[in-house]
Amino acid sequence: HLLTGGALAAGGAVAGAAVTAAATGRAAPAPTTPVAVDPGTAVEPFHGPHQAGVATSPQAHASFLAFDLAPGTDRAALGRLMRLLTDDAVRLTRGQPALADTEPELAVLPARLTVTFGFGPGLFLAAGLDDRRPPSVAPLPAYPIDRLEDRWSGGDLLIQLCADDPVTVAHAQRMLVKDARAFGTPRWTQRGFRRGAGVEPDGRTQRNLLGQLDGTTNPAAGDATFGPAVWATGGPDWFRDGTTVVIRRIRLELETWDLLGRAGKEFAVGRRLDTGAPLTGTAEHDPPDFTATDATGFTVIPEFSHVARAHVADEELRMLRRPYNYDGQPDAAGQPDSGMIFAAYQADVARQFLPVQQRLAESDLLNEWTTPIGSAVFAIPPGCAEGGWIGQQLLG
Ligand code: HEM
Repeated sequence: HLLTGGALAAGGAVAGAAVTAAATGRAAPAPTTPVAVDPGTAVEPFHGPHQAGVATSPQAHASFLAFDLAPGTDRAALGRLMRLLTDDAVRLTRGQPALADTEPELAVLPARLTVTFGFGPGLFLAAGLDDRRPPSVAPLPAYPIDRLEDRWSGGDLLIQLCADDPVTVAHAQRMLVKDARAFGTPRWTQRGFRRGAGVEPDGRTQRNLLGQLDGTTNPAAGDATFGPAVWATGGPDWFRDGTTVVIRRIRLELETWDLLGRAGKEFAVGRRLDTGAPLTGTAEHDPPDFTATDATGFTVIPEFSHVARAHVADEELRMLRRPYNYDGQPDAAGQPDSGMIFAAYQADVARQFLPVQQRLAESDLLNEWTTPIGSAVFAIPPGCAEGGWIGQQLLG
């Protein structure tokens, strides 16, 4: 998208031309540059076969909220809840106030807001529809690297809010929580951020808080393999065109990471810090050569580096990583509370996520500086057309 500065410049040029036209009586020349979209008013479409917020180019700010359903929230109640929440999402993503919006002025800048809903295992049970739960939508197995805390784990209903503006996210969160709280209680909320909108050209890989380019080997929304990797085709009928998300809250041990030299940091992941190139290449998107050896006979990309362990050769089996950074309050000793809200989307958790997570849990040099402290899995139902609601295929 283009920047505000560009919008002002383009708008200014058009206004200037109109003034000249009025003064001379001649028609204003058509603007030669496309009119820029203001980032505040930019809209991501809500309706469609898939929910927005997955294939959407990641916005700068996110809030992930998980709810525990109140006892007795059955299929009919869930239908009412999802109708309400869908209505809120349709309006807010268009830049319109939600029904009974108490601060309607806060709704006018959608800033590419997306609202994405997810169903945890408990929702299927509550609805009496456990037989229609995609089987791999279940808690992950326990891994020895895990130090999971209840306060960041599990949940029956996920609301994922992403936008290029934090005020928009806060307002949307307030509106949706107001409607959801009659049906359940917030279990956890995770706020995350990436680079601010417009500070880097679109399509550039972001850096995480370890300083690494993160997202290089991701399915790209335009690729032929994106669909098969991300959108469900198998599983229960209602779930077609949906996906799954695994959300892992992963603490970064920045203090000990700081003690590592640059070579050690590059060794741990198998890629260079400056360019993101694999240790066997020179540019970010060079294919890594996991078999190349150095003079000592060891592989150039260490066998236990993060990318060597995480690599998946079949592009249709890749996961889509769409992580956000978090950065809390340093403790009394000045130690940071930083990490990653690692969100991975894939057609099937068992087929795509579990084998990679298993390999990483067994051995990954990066484990020394990363600690999973939260874990949750949700089915992301397919999208809906105008007039429909999210979850209708299951709950309707
Ligand atoms: C690749 C960082 C956790 C799966 C990468 C890369 C970096 C990175 C820097 C290389 C660039 C790229 O392709 O994006 C991290 C950090 C993590 C983390 C800092 C923890 C805080 C995970 C987890 C999984 C995972 C939990 C899955 C269970 C992958 C995959 C790749 C990758 C599949 C691509 C490998 C390839 O095919 O080359 N990660 N990662 N990562 N990561 Fe992670």
